[in-house]
Parts: sequence; structure tokens; C-alpha cells
Amino acid sequence: MRRVTVVFGTRPEAIKMCPLVNELKKREGIDVNVVVTGQHRQMLDQILNTFGVVPDYDLDIMKDEQTLFDITASVLEKMKDLLKDLAPDIVLVHGDTTTAFATALSCYYLQIPVGHVEAGLRTHDIYAPYPEEFNRQVLGIISKYHFAPTEAAKTNLISEGKSPDNIWVTGNTIVDAMRYTVKDEYSHPDLEWASDSKMILITAHRRENLGSPMHSMFRAIRRVLDEHKDVKAIYPVHMNPEVRKAAFEEFEGCENIRLIEPLNVVDFNNFESRCYLCITDSGGVQEECVSLGKPVLVMRSVTERGEGISAGTMKLVGSDEEKIYESLTELLDDASKYSKMLNVSDCYGDGHASERIADILTQG
Ligand code: UD1
Ligand code: UDP
Repeated sequence: MRRVTVVFGTRPEAIKMCPLVNELKKREGIDVNVVVTGQHRQMLDQILNTFGVVPDYDLDIMKDEQTLFDITASVLEKMKDLLKDLAPDIVLVHGDTTTAFATALSCYYLQIPVGHVEAGLRTHDIYAPYPEEFNRQVLGIISKYHFAPTEAAKTNLISEGKSPDNIWVTGNTIVDAMRYTVKDEYSHPDLEWASDSKMILITAHRRENLGSPMHSMFRAIRRVLDEHKDVKAIYPVHMNPEVRKAAFEEFEGCENIRLIEPLNVVDFNNFESRCYLCITDSGGVQEECVSLGKPVLVMRSVTERGEGISAGTMKLVGSDEEKIYESLTELLDDASKYSKMLNVSDCYGDGHASERIADILTQG
């Protein structure tokens, strides 16, 4: 029996790891347990409920306005004894969060093998995104098994000297999740409200965008909304108090936007599949929009998910107010530019990544 411990702590990790947990639970020869750090609380619990995953251990570390020091120190401290007790054959972590980084570091200290899901994404700038690019690179060094979502991610790992024997291209498990969440029949009061308009879906939360860049981003969107009364925007606001303050300040009195609480992923994915376009600084939202063929403007200077740009569905617009204003206006006013971005692509996966990862773990 192979003892596999799956660790995650934030909303996006949960969305991308729950399909894998549920797949692993079906497999004979694998004894899986789930540890959540609770780096996110409400936003994590929403996802656990949706996928019916009940953690075996919950480190419950979240603090209001937590710093990177807080998260790293709490995870390291609490993982030490738990991992010693569990003594797993392998620990699976995901992506690039501080939960993943500090868990992998704990495993390294205890010499427990790590499997990295969504391995090999790179911008090669450790401040963009911050601290995620650093986390990914360190995870690449520590991990024994690299589950790369795309060929480009595999190429990145090979160029860093990782052995091809330890890299598997599996697709991204986010597409597995969407097979479960996106429905033909779906309705929601906020979608009804926006049904007579072009609907823009907004998210924002990146640490490097907090403060002045985020205000610029929101001001640009506000200007566009003020000039386009035929457009309605829905913005489920991230729970970070700094994000909320900026959002509520900049959109105050704006009648064609609804600022709402974070949506359950079933709702959010169905909003994505029905929106006119999405504007975001999120990683996962890029993958989802491209998979759904929805134009997505990315408020970042670089992306580690360049496949969507090659597919034509995604465009980088940075955090500069004028650039965002111009790009968003163009996409709303120029039908031919808009229709060129309507490309559905399976560049991030075919919806069977969890099965592939489970096959590899069952065999290995
Ligand atoms: C974290 C990850 C980021 C990921 C993002 C997904 C790190 C360093 N950052 O960033 O890579 O893209 O999650 O959303 O790992 N909060 C709540 N309830 C929640 C979640 C957050 O109140 O359920 C508030 C808390 O005040 C918390 C703050 O949001 O202190 C920030 O959370 P944190 O996990 O530190 O950073 P994120 O920006 O969410
Ligand atoms: N998401 C959600 N509810 C929301 C906004 C986003 O469930 O209100 C989901 C979205 O479908 C995607 C994931 O959250 O799968 C992206 O997470 P986030 O943007 O917080 O983090 P990132 O992907 O940037 O790490």
C-alpha cells in the first residue's frame, strides 16, 4: 500500500487538487490522506464542500492580513510533527503558493519525496508573480516527481536540468474540475441582472498588484463602465481586506457593476462560461477562460501560461491605467478584434489529468 499525503491550503489549490484526491480515493493500492493548511479559510471551505472532500488534518493557520513570514513559519512549524507521524511515501503539493513551498521545504528537511502537481510554469522573474515564481522554482528543485500540465512546462523543467524520466505531461487538473462544474442548464440572479448587456467578469488579488497598481486597474475599469452603460460587470471580490478596500473605494456609486462575495467555483465557472469577457490577474482564471473560449485580459506584465496567448484567447494588459482602459475599450467597441479572441482551446488540458497522475502513482 502506497501512503500518499495530499497537501493544499488556498482556493485555487483546492480546485485543482480535489479532483485528484477523489480520483486517488478510487484507486486500490493507494492510501490517501488530505492535509489542509487553512492558509485560506472561507474560500477553501467553499471548495472542499463543493467537491465533498473532508480533510483528515486541518492546520487552520489563517490570520487576518497574514504575511509571508506568518504563513511560512506556521506551515513549517505545524508540518514538522504531522509529517513525522504520518510518514508518507510521497507528499503531493500544488502549484506555487506559500502552502506548497513551505510544505515541500518541510518534506525536504524530513527527506520525504515530493510530487509537484502543475510543475514547470515559469516567468523567470521571481518578483512576477511574487512570491509565486520563487515558490515554483524552489518546488522544482525539491520535487522528485514533476507533473507538468503542458509540453512548454516540461521544456522549462528540462532546461533547468531535471531528468525527463521524472517529468510527466498530464494536462492541468483545472480542466478536470470544469468537467464537473460547468453546466448547460444554469441560472443565477446576478446573471439575470446582466442578461440584457455585455457582461464583464472581474477578479483581482495578486500581491504585487496590491496598493497603487490595483487602484489603477480598478480606475481603468471604472472609466470604461462609466462610458459604456450597455455593459454590466460582476466582480466577486477576493477576501483580502486590502483588495476589498480598493475595490469598494474605486467602484463606489458605479451602477453597472455588482461587487459580490467570492462565488462558489460552480457558480464562478458558469459565470465565466456566460460572460462576454473576463479581466483578471488570476492564474487559474486564465486557464479556465481559454478552455471555455472566453476572451481574457490579464492585468499582469508577464504570464507563465503563455499557451493562451498563442491560442489567441488571452492578452496581457499589465496594471497601467491607460493600457487597461484602451484594451478593454477596444474589445468592447471593435467586434472583429473581439471575435478573433473567441477561441476554445484544450492547450491546458483535456479533463483527464487526475487520472494520468493517479495512474503514475499507482504504477510507481
Ligand atoms: C494566496 C496565494 C496566491 C494565490 C491566492 C489565491 C501565497 C503567498 N499566495 O494569495 O498564490 O494566487 O492565494 O487566491 O501563497 N482571506 C480571508 N479568507 C479567505 C482567504 C483569504 O479572510 O478564505 C484574507 C485574509 O485576511 C488573508 C488575506 O485574505 O490574510 C490574504 O490571504 P493570503 O493567502 O495571504 O494571500 P492571497 O492573496 O489570498
Ligand atoms: N474562483 C472561485 N470563485 C470566485 C473567483 C474565482 O471559485 O469568486 C476560482 C476560479 O474558478 C479559479 C480559481 O478560483 O479556479 C482561481 O483562484 P485565484 O484567482 O484566487 O488564484 P490563482 O489562480 O491566481 O492562484
